[in-house]
This record gives sequence, C-alpha cells and structure tokens, in this order.
Amino acid sequence: MRVIREIADMQAASRSAKTKGLTIALVPTMGALHAGHLSLVRQARTEADTVVVSIFVNPLQFGPSEDFGKYPRTLEADCALLAAEGADIVFAPSTEQMYPPGATTVVFVEGLSERLDGRSRPGHFRGVSTVVSKLFHIVSPDCAIFGQKDAAQVAVLRRMVRDLNMPVSLIVAPIVREADGLAMSSRNAYLSADERRQALVLHRALERVRSLAATGESSTAKLRQAALDEIATEPAAQLDYCEIVDPDTLEGCEDVKSGALVAVAASFGSTRLIDNLLLAAT
Ligand code: PAJ
Repeated sequence: MRVIREIADMQAASRSAKTKGLTIALVPTMGALHAGHLSLVRQARTEADTVVVSIFVNPLQFGPSEDFGKYPRTLEADCALLAAEGADIVFAPSTEQMYPPGATTVVFVEGLSERLDGRSRPGHFRGVSTVVSKLFHIVSPDCAIFGQKDAAQVAVLRRMVRDLNMPVSLIVAPIVREADGLAMSSRNAYLSADERRQALVLHRALERVRSLAATGESSTAKLRQAALDEIATEPAAQLDYCEIVDPDTLEGCEDVKSGALVAVAASFGSTRLIDNLLLAAT
C-alpha cells in the first residue's frame, strides 16, 4: 500500500492505473477510521481494481465554532487498518496542498445544501461538495463509495455529480452500528460514558418509526411524532432536527408511501451526532 501526500503524485498514480486499463474506486474520508469506514473500503475492493482511500480533515466543511481543531487525527493507525483491508493507495494531502493561498473556487449545490445539517451548519455542504469535487478531479475514480450514515451528504453529492456531469458513479453503503445500535462515528470518541448511553435514544427513535411504519402507518406527522416522543424520553438530548423527507430532494413529504428518509441530529454534551433510517416505498 502506497501513502501519497502530493497531489501531482496522486494524479500520476491514477494516470498510470488508467493506462494499464485498471479501474479506480475512491473512498473519501477524514480519517479516525472505524468499522463503518472499513465497510466502504471492503465494498470498494469489490467494485474496482485499484482502491484509493483519501484521508483529509477538510477545514472548509467545519464552522468557526466546530471541532476542526480537536477532530481526531490518527494517520498511522488508519494506514495499518487500510493495509489490512487491502487498500492500494492512501491519499493524505496537507491543507496547503488542497487549499493553497488564493484558492477561491467553490462548488455549491443550491437548495439541498441548506437543508437538514446544512441549516444548522451553514457552509458545511459547500465545503463537502468543494472538497469531493477536488478529490474527484485529482483521483479520477470510476466510482466513489459513501456511507448512508450521512444521508444529506449523499443527496448533495448525487445532485452535484448529476448537475456537473461528473463521470463517477456513486455507491452508497449501509450504516454500520455498534452492537447496541449506536451508529459508528469518529465523533463517538468524544462521548463520556453517560453521553454514550444517552445517545442510544437516536437509534431507539428510528426503530420506533420503523416499527410504526411496518404496521402500515404512512402519515409523516404521526411517524415524526413517534420519533419525537422517544427522543423526549432522554432529557439530555439537545435535538437539532428530526425530519422525514424525500431522500433525493430533502424536501418534506406528507406521507411515506413513495419512500422517505427519517433523519435525526442531536447533541449530547458538546457532541453532535446524526442518524437516519430509509423507509422503502410501499
Ligand atoms: P467521514 O465522516 O470520515 O466519513 C467518510 C465516509 O464514511 C462517509 O461516506 C460516511 O458516510 C461514511 N461513514 C461514516 N460512518 C459510517 C457508518 N457508521 N456506517 C457507514 N458509513 C459510514 O463524510 C466525510 O468524512 C466527509 O464529509 C468527506 C465525504 C470525506 C468529505 O470531506
């Protein structure tokens, strides 16, 4: 496994793979890798000849009062995990490489970027779409794997790829959870033992929606109320949003008959967590 730090070297490696007729799968990450990330790498392995994993804590997607400074950076451990998963290349550029002085071009997916996390994290999705389009240009992957865990991110990036005719197919992998249901996240490391226990309410709320929907309930208002009732059982949860929306447009829907995304975000102490559930069309 090669670790590449320079953009020009990554571009050369991709060119060389393409000349040999090899396909490339990209897994973009910010590092601090856990089993959720590794599931994407495993999926990438089945999709293409060459697996590139990028590790870059992207300053552009963090707000001024967010955790950019304290975000865990564990490159050595990450590389050991990726080598064991059979990744071919780790692309880990510096901030100076990615954003040299004077860089002012951004990619902004209007409309979608202001919904869900975008509403409480202004500028977040602008940072995500900008860095992911840069990574696509640098790595030239045939496909890129993202996690359903970040459902709004998936909607934003799908739209970006479609609108800008990027020749990359997006593959979405299911949410990987801890044994007790908590969605895996690099930010779980911030939680105290108490907060870790409180955070389980998010999964419980989604499961309550899942079972109510399974009984045939399709009213968004009723399903949402069930989630809110469950979240209210954990007073420590500071709810950011709990919404039931169309998974592609992120717009609200009256009922869930044609499929819907149930998305929640809440803080426990100073740690903000997200989780979601996709309801299939009935
Ligand atoms: P990061 O939070 O490191 O996540 C990298 C990828 O792993 C994302 O596609 C995310 O959805 C996926 N992922 C995280 N937790 C997961 C879980 N429990 N199960 C399945 N997949 C999971 O998302 C980002 O980084 C950044 O925004 C990025 C796309 C790299 C752009 O900077």
